[in-house]
Amino acid sequence: MDTEQIVRTFVEYYEEHGHRRITGSTLLPPPGDAVLFTTSGMHPLTPHLEGRPHPLGRRLVNVQRCLRTTDLEEVGDSTHLTVFEMLGTWSLGDYESSQSLDWAHRLLTEGLGIDPGLLHATVYGGGDQVGPDTDSLRLWQERGVPVELTVEDNWWSNGPVGPCGPDSEIFLWTGDTPPRSTPTRDDRWVEVWNHVMMRHRRLEDGSLVPLPQRNIDTGLGLERLSSLLQGRSSVFECDVFDPWRRLVPTLWPLDEPSLRLVLDHLRSAVVIIGDGVRPANTGRGYVLRRLVRRVLTVLWRDDPSRGLGDLPEELVSHTLDHFRQDGDPETVRRLLLEEEHRFRELLERGRNVLSRPRFRGPLGEDDFHYLHDTHGLPRDLVTSLREERVPGGHNRPRERE
Ligand code: ALA
Repeated sequence: MDTEQIVRTFVEYYEEHGHRRITGSTLLPPPGDAVLFTTSGMHPLTPHLEGRPHPLGRRLVNVQRCLRTTDLEEVGDSTHLTVFEMLGTWSLGDYESSQSLDWAHRLLTEGLGIDPGLLHATVYGGGDQVGPDTDSLRLWQERGVPVELTVEDNWWSNGPVGPCGPDSEIFLWTGDTPPRSTPTRDDRWVEVWNHVMMRHRRLEDGSLVPLPQRNIDTGLGLERLSSLLQGRSSVFECDVFDPWRRLVPTLWPLDEPSLRLVLDHLRSAVVIIGDGVRPANTGRGYVLRRLVRRVLTVLWRDDPSRGLGDLPEELVSHTLDHFRQDGDPETVRRLLLEEEHRFRELLERGRNVLSRPRFRGPLGEDDFHYLHDTHGLPRDLVTSLREERVPGGHNRPRERE
């Protein structure tokens, strides 16, 4: 099944069960939102989880593009991407968790053909303020799915305050052996689908109050599901990356970890630009800038003559089309190239400034402030430029990239 078929199967299944498809939002949350980017499918629906009626009713389904910078350091493993799509379903005060989990189990096994013996669930085991989630536990037991009870791992929130609740996660076994152990003990159990019983609101003082209605919020990472259903060993090998995998290695030969970083960050940068963000020194624009700079740092480590001007337009248009963005591919390429020029100039300036005697020894806070305020050199850039001075530093593999 390719990714488009998976989306169709998912959405049609929920439409058959009375859900209306809503259009996913962009990566930009509404003005006034505390976070920079949409991080999950529920994010744009927060007012409706808090009780405001939704014009399309109480049962919703969609595909939402999301960005998680908290996972930036994990990029390169087999299951995380910076920009990804999330399939989601919602019950706004309508059905309960047992109904939601029952549909999920049927869709995974009957609709998408997953062997039921390869599934494991986790369920909230109860804490100080909320008791164990016995409804979800009973459903899994009836369905013959093994369950692990946890406390912290089965509580979901979108931030320190706001809507939250216990969740039940569904894992798929990816090992070569028959399934063994449990999701918290063996990472060959990969999480595919999260069902949050969104019934509480966390207040500033840490206490919980009930939301006006008992909601269900579910989310399923699309690229991760595609790679698992397509028998690929990482998200970078599912079909949405096919053109990237075909073209990027012919342009820039890279080892697998560097290739993954370049694929993830460049594709993310295209989508962020496609949603109207421009490189900047603060906020969303700085996230974009960091992604592009990390790509360039990896590319230039082996060959400083590499550049984003070589990026095939086909990859930009494929990505904009996939995310249903109507931006102009040529404009996206031009912005990437301008950012590359800016970074080259900044590096040049940085190397000149840092070669002054004043900056030879250890740097203090005053130095970092001065370099930032007077010369526009961010701390992380100063640190990596100083690392270059280590003998052989320019080509030295850096652990943190
Ligand atoms: N909002 C939940 C998540 O992102 C479903 O995992």
